[in-house]
Amino acid sequence: MTAPDGLHVGIIMDGNGRWAARQGNGRYAGHRAGARTVRACVRAAPDCGVRVLTLYAFSTNNWKRPEREVRLLLRLFERHLHSEIDECVANGVRIQVIGRRDRLGDSLRAAIDTAERATRDGERLLLRLAIDYSARDAILAAAERIGELSSSGEERRQAFGQLVSGQPCECQPVQDVDLIIRTGGECRLSDFLLWESAYAELYFTEVMWPDFGRSELRAAISEFHGRERRFGTVPAAAPVPAAGLHPAAPASAAAPAAAVGAGVTSVAAAPAAAGT
Ligand code: FPP
Repeated sequence: MTAPDGLHVGIIMDGNGRWAARQGNGRYAGHRAGARTVRACVRAAPDCGVRVLTLYAFSTNNWKRPEREVRLLLRLFERHLHSEIDECVANGVRIQVIGRRDRLGDSLRAAIDTAERATRDGERLLLRLAIDYSARDAILAAAERIGELSSSGEERRQAFGQLVSGQPCECQPVQDVDLIIRTGGECRLSDFLLWESAYAELYFTEVMWPDFGRSELRAAISEFHGRERRFGTVPAAAPVPAAGLHPAAPASAAAPAAAVGAGVTSVAAAPAAAGT
């Protein structure tokens, strides 16, 4: 599903720990600063043309971190949910949390319920926080449930996408991801939105999450708009292949478009050749 009136941007917020260490502080100081960046990006997103913003706050693998860091992080999410409600309501931001809830504490679950309920009329931005989230788990859970549905063909594919996205049945399906941003210098997806990002553009930056802000978000989106998204088609003015050439033969330009510069690595998620 493509964006009707805005982009779906997913962000892997990485680099809090390193940012804090560089300043001689503990990791939690980085997470606290990261929460301020979350607020800044939520404020900036609608003006940047973002309609859905999915933030990777806590992966299922993050449970393997030291117990104290996990506890402080979860408490930070809870505080943040409480503290942001009024501003989100005022600014038309709807909060939804995706991921497992059964392993979260009662008070965090209650904070999620309260934030989701209080902001449910927001239409300017859908803010999805991924907490105890794994894309593979989401795909597996959807695969287990799809058998219960009697749909077929395209309807079945859409129903599957709805299940994977974690959107409640009564909600509008969430559009596919247009752009994935990862801060902190690593270039991988780390089990984030694997189904939804099938045709997403990828943008990797060395900037640590606490230093990311409105202008960095603008820069990422501006680069996204410079990309050619083909969704498996060919460019309008593409030359007709010579007779006899196998249509699926890989062209020399088969490598994904990549640009590296100024600390930013960008890779088109979909290979440029052979219509895939
Ligand atoms: C990864 O950086 C970051 C996380 C696992 C936590 C993300 C949490 C926040 C940004 C805090 C605020 C979030 C909300 C939703 C209020 P890292 O700590 O692994 O960084 P490192 O790679 O430098 O160690």
